[in-house]
Amino acid sequence: MMTLDDLRAEVEELEHDLRERLASVDDSASLDAFRIDFLGRKGRVSQLFKQLGRVDASQRSEAGQLLNALKETASAALARKEEETRLERLEGRFDAERVDMSLPGVYSSFGHRHPLTLVQREIESIFMRMGFSVATGPEIETEYYNFDALNIPVEHPARADWDTFYVDETTLLRPHTSPVQIRVMEQTEPPVRIICPGRCYRRDTQDATHSPVFHQIELLWVEEGLSLANLKYVLEVFTHEFFGEGYEMLFSGDYFPFTEPSVQVHIKGPGAANWLEIMGAGMVDPAVLEAVGYDPETYTGFAFGLGMERMAMLKYGIDDIRVFLTNDLRFIRQF
Ligand code: FA5
Repeated sequence: MMTLDDLRAEVEELEHDLRERLASVDDSASLDAFRIDFLGRKGRVSQLFKQLGRVDASQRSEAGQLLNALKETASAALARKEEETRLERLEGRFDAERVDMSLPGVYSSFGHRHPLTLVQREIESIFMRMGFSVATGPEIETEYYNFDALNIPVEHPARADWDTFYVDETTLLRPHTSPVQIRVMEQTEPPVRIICPGRCYRRDTQDATHSPVFHQIELLWVEEGLSLANLKYVLEVFTHEFFGEGYEMLFSGDYFPFTEPSVQVHIKGPGAANWLEIMGAGMVDPAVLEAVGYDPETYTGFAFGLGMERMAMLKYGIDDIRVFLTNDLRFIRQF
């Protein structure tokens, strides 16, 4: 037999142990052990329920209430502890995964345009505002467009000057952008107002102002009534827009088979000692107009081909053309 008092004493003891064990529960393993020891199928609370049969029938109902209350207390304590350890685990994760917003970020730099691209875009935009459109042509060009159509026949000495790298018997890397003039005129009726940027190749030995690979911008304007005065005016407006104040321009006589008369244009920057030749230019030779089917009695035109690297050198005060090709980031990053 078991009296209600005996049972009460056991319940109190169990409650005491339960509180003590609970205080040491601090992770999921000790939580599981606690659940098994107290609330499991063979746990201490279940063991006490088994004692019910030994209590006198008259006191059994009260004893049952006592044990039910114990079970509830234990379950509630377990649930509280579970919640507590869950929150602690969460906080642990928060601590471990915390992001310190005050730390400096990972720097990734943006690229930017190469100085030659900047110069090309600027020149294009100046001429587009003047009503020119942009045309392009192949870098591997035929002898016909490179020479014959530009009034440079086979026996002409200028042909030897501009012989570059032949791909086969009749095609070569173009030494200038002038062949694009012919390609455009063949496809259009006058008036023609174009600029043609592009890469060119020559047998020139590399030095401070020459490179075997460089860029030109060609300009061609064909219409009725154009004269050398119009060419000079366009060039003056252009150089003033591109360079700003303090740059001087000098014309000298020159010879190109495809222009008559022909000139060379030189520019001197503010305070500079020397003139730098930046372009060849002239009035389009009547033979060239005839070759593309334009009537030279009706139409006149002018053209030029300017060196883009040299324009960039003058604008940015660069004294050696080779820096454009060496990919030295210390140079590139200055723009
Ligand atoms: C010509 O190439 C002519 N086609 C230009 C022309 C066009 C004349 C239309 C008349 C009418 P020239 O060989 O002078 O001309 O070259 C023109 C410019 O290209 C030069 O003034 C220079 O700025 C640039 N240039 C020529 N060769 C090189 C080189 N090896 N490296 C860098 N720039 C060069």
